[in-house]
Amino acid sequence: MKRKVTQKDSDFCRILSENIPGTAKGDIPRIVADGLPPSGDDGNLRFVLDVGCADGSLTAVIHAAVPEDVGVIGIEPNRTRCLAAWDRWRDAPGHERLSFLNTSFQEAYSGSTERFDAIVFSSVLHELASGERDSTRRYESGPIRDALEKAYKLLKPGGQLVIRDFVRPHKWEDSTRRIRFRNKASESRFLQYFAECPFVYTTPGAPYLMNIFRTTEYTEFEVRGDILLEFLLCWTWGPKSWNREIKERKLVLSQYEWRSTLEECGFRDIHVKTSAEGYPQHFDRIVKDAGQASIQWPAVSGLVTARK
Ligand SMILES: C[S@@+](CC[C@H](N)C(=O)[O-])C[C@H]1O[C@@H](n2cnc3c(N)ncnc32)[C@H](O)[C@@H]1O
Repeated sequence: MKRKVTQKDSDFCRILSENIPGTAKGDIPRIVADGLPPSGDDGNLRFVLDVGCADGSLTAVIHAAVPEDVGVIGIEPNRTRCLAAWDRWRDAPGHERLSFLNTSFQEAYSGSTERFDAIVFSSVLHELASGERDSTRRYESGPIRDALEKAYKLLKPGGQLVIRDFVRPHKWEDSTRRIRFRNKASESRFLQYFAECPFVYTTPGAPYLMNIFRTTEYTEFEVRGDILLEFLLCWTWGPKSWNREIKERKLVLSQYEWRSTLEECGFRDIHVKTSAEGYPQHFDRIVKDAGQASIQWPAVSGLVTARK
């Protein structure tokens, strides 16, 4: 039997496990299973690769969704998370066709081609781009493109790519937003973001924090929309995750850029579905546009599928 998450599992793993149901992540196992090519008569096994699998929660759900002749491999460069995956899932039913490797995507399977029937990047590709420390180019998508080129090589012809990641919403970078925080902790975290975040001040253009409006009852901050979203996406996970989240750039590609990058890598049948899932429940905030109307949380979560 699969065991439940225990106290020794990190908060990170627990948060991931709790966030799989009911989100775009929850659709991934079905999409992978439905998109697999039929098993051939030649006896060749089919394989799915889950890149950046962390504690293997999603990998195990994919494994449960695909037919029994499909092998599922999770790769994870963080040793602690990879060991947690081994430990948690080693006795799962059918575990002989579920494996975990402690490696990065860049290092894995070098020189290999046409190996997988499906490759999944769930909440991983923006982390690759965050490793790019050239902060003068804020939306540096080079590492994402490199990974997609490699994924293309590793997929068999007709194989499916499934990505769950952030999508930079249209128009947020061209306009300002006003935010009022409901508590002082969020307000001071917001100011800390401007003091610490390596991507904010060093980027050409802006300034990003445009104005501070103070009354006796409240303080409101006027800020460029895309910077505000980056902040909200860091803070939504709460103070324990802050130090890790602040190092990441999340809104690297817009919907149009996801499409064009995939096309340039050779992919076809590209679909991008965006949703506004999750975050409003986690975050205590009021966001208004410059005209002071309350605005909706934008669709920043994307599920992207494509074929080789
Ligand atoms: C936010 S977690 C996502 C975990 C899981 N895929 C999910 O959706 O629940 C991102 C994971 O990607 C891993 N990661 C970061 N850089 C990576 C790389 N270069 N190759 C493979 N995995 C990477 C991290 O260690 C982390 O465990």
